[in-house]
Amino acid sequence: MKTFLIASNRLPAKIKRSEEDVILEPSVGGLATGLRSFYQSYDCSWIGWPGLPSEELDGLEDKVAGLLEQESCVPVHLPSNLLNGYYYGYANRTIWPLFHYFQHLADFDSRLWESYREANHRFADTVASLAAPGNFIWVHDYHLMLLPRLLKERLPDCPIGYFLHIPFPSFELFRLLPEREEILDGLLGSDLVGFHSYEYARHFLSSALRLKGCDIELNKVLVGNRTVKVDVFPMSIDYDQFSSPPDLDRAGEIIKDARQRLGDRKMILSVDRLDYTKGIIQRLQAFELFLERNPALRDKVLLVLLVVPSRIAVPQYARLKKDIDELVGKINGRYGGVAYAPIAYLYRSLDFPDLHALYGMADVGLVTPVRDGMNLVAKEYVTAKSNGRGMLILSEMAGAVMELGEAIMVNPNNHGQVADAIVQALQMDEEERETRMRAMQDRIRRYDVTRWAEDFTESLDNCWVELRQEQAAELDPEEPGKILEEYLKAENSLILLDYDGTLIDPAEDAESEAIDSRLRDLIISLTNIEGNTVVVLSGRTKEDLEQSVGSEDLNLVAEHGVWLHDVGGKWRMIAPLDNRWKEDIHPILRFYADRTPGAYVQEKDYSLVLHYRKSEPDLATIRSSELLEALLPSASQMDLDVLEGEKLIEVRNRDVHKGRAALHWLEKKRWGFIMVAGDDTTDEDTFRAMPDRTFSVKVGGGHTSARYRVKSANELRSLLWRMANKKV
Ligand code: UDP
Ligand code: G6P
Repeated sequence: MKTFLIASNRLPAKIKRSEEDVILEPSVGGLATGLRSFYQSYDCSWIGWPGLPSEELDGLEDKVAGLLEQESCVPVHLPSNLLNGYYYGYANRTIWPLFHYFQHLADFDSRLWESYREANHRFADTVASLAAPGNFIWVHDYHLMLLPRLLKERLPDCPIGYFLHIPFPSFELFRLLPEREEILDGLLGSDLVGFHSYEYARHFLSSALRLKGCDIELNKVLVGNRTVKVDVFPMSIDYDQFSSPPDLDRAGEIIKDARQRLGDRKMILSVDRLDYTKGIIQRLQAFELFLERNPALRDKVLLVLLVVPSRIAVPQYARLKKDIDELVGKINGRYGGVAYAPIAYLYRSLDFPDLHALYGMADVGLVTPVRDGMNLVAKEYVTAKSNGRGMLILSEMAGAVMELGEAIMVNPNNHGQVADAIVQALQMDEEERETRMRAMQDRIRRYDVTRWAEDFTESLDNCWVELRQEQAAELDPEEPGKILEEYLKAENSLILLDYDGTLIDPAEDAESEAIDSRLRDLIISLTNIEGNTVVVLSGRTKEDLEQSVGSEDLNLVAEHGVWLHDVGGKWRMIAPLDNRWKEDIHPILRFYADRTPGAYVQEKDYSLVLHYRKSEPDLATIRSSELLEALLPSASQMDLDVLEGEKLIEVRNRDVHKGRAALHWLEKKRWGFIMVAGDDTTDEDTFRAMPDRTFSVKVGGGHTSARYRVKSANELRSLLWRMANKKV
């Protein structure tokens, strides 16, 4: 079983002082509630700040450590001056507002930054003191963006994953941060960086490209000789916990009170931490408008407004608290009576049974943040309405919209729209409400928090395996050493050679008759050696490939593995394939080709390709990244692969690739020697499909899982000539 070290600012439990003693209580907030079930079911230690400044724990450190140890938690103690600069400072007065698009609230102060750096170093010390080689380290959230790099330097033998629980803003905002490059460097110390949504991942990649000039291949960032994978993992909740009926025996007085006060009114429920990103003021204004516009509904509803105290030492939070108090007072004063007030306002945190019971009672869940990374409350409310008798109103600005599309969507700044949405939710007929809620529940059930965590950790595991395979050794074609030695020893050899970029260099050798004919001679000489099977693999159409290398006496693969040709045989297809997706994808490619002079779309039997070799390079780069963005959602739905080749983008069925075609020859016998050479991402499939003992050779720079590397097609041809001449 893998051992995980989780590092986050907030632990799943926080210390509370009571007189001379200390107790633990559960932390509130999406990170703690979401990760709690993962860490309870794995071999994990969770490293974090216990929630109080170290001075307040003076003399109680052992007790605190003991309590936390029972929960597999390890504290990082921080004194109040450091907390002020780090947690109440850079994290929550600079990063939090900026990343949530509240640029005007962001405080750019180098002293806060110094504390942030110092705190990240302290976390690094604690994690490094606990980690053993091979432990998986999972760093969370915006408080610890420098930690991955600090750990990578000290723990090169540990895979490091990072997950951001808040939005990653567009480049236009991120660039405002004075320490933007240090932050990017810190994050790029990870092996895997995860975000809730594709939009956040795209913003991150765009900042890495523009600020650091990193090479990016689809969702991989090349940092020196390392690859950092960037991917999307929308966080979820513990479905079973929230879908089971509330345990009313464990619910407290507050629920009894709520029942009494509710009578036969409908309950609208609002649950958030105190935060300006949650749109609480805007929500109250919209509720006031609803009351004003709908006199007949006024005493038929009760808004339960649960606000959980949070970061109150940050001035904007204290101000927000005051504004909410005043606005609730104003609305209740204006629309309430002697025995009734339209808003029941709770400023506290509830434990699970009470919160669960409230979800169960609420007829409408009103979740309208002005900006939110994900918003787990929305998912919890939907899941808790297993009787189908509820409706969610959800802000377009919450990350959760991607998965909760059946909710009533609103722009939280449009008070009229929110007021109308409340009426719509209250009056929606039961069948429609149930259909919509069930669709959302099914989606949450399929991708619950366990799936989320497993997806992330499996992906980190894969990155780690790939990373270790990536250390391709430079190969000198004049002194190929072991490759030649093994080849000469073997009685039979399988040699798989990609064509464009590998055997010929499209820039230097293209359309050179001389190269074409010398290359043919080379392939034929290798093929004619007894015991050798040589296969040329290409993305070209079969007609095109035949024209370049001939076909009769060769083994060939065309269209990246759709068509196979054995020596002396005929072309045949690898398997029957479904082509219906082309109808949807063709117009997208054509649209981009039409807007990019020089670009054109090629239709192959089982793929579509946009070529932009002849387009103006800057425009081509912009258009190709726009196209990749436009294609990715439909591609994942239709099970298609989108490949970025040299000046082209190709879309094809996912289960067709050169690796699969290569297996056709690989499985023919027990080969004494196997060699594969290739230059781009499509050849990585072949490298990966081969047994470990294969001599895989990458031509040119960039990320690879091959064992060896040569600089150019010319170098590879020299190596192949040596092989042809040594064994005649
Ligand atoms: N929550 C809680 N007690 C409360 C109110 C909320 O434990 O009284 C939990 C709630 O169940 C949810 C989390 O706090 O899991 C809030 O997460 P969300 O993603 O909605 O917002 P965040 O606070 O992380 O910004
Ligand atoms: C958000 C953040 C978490 C944080 C939580 C509660 O969910 O992404 O990192 O723990 O809010 O905020 P707090 O400042 O109390 O930890």
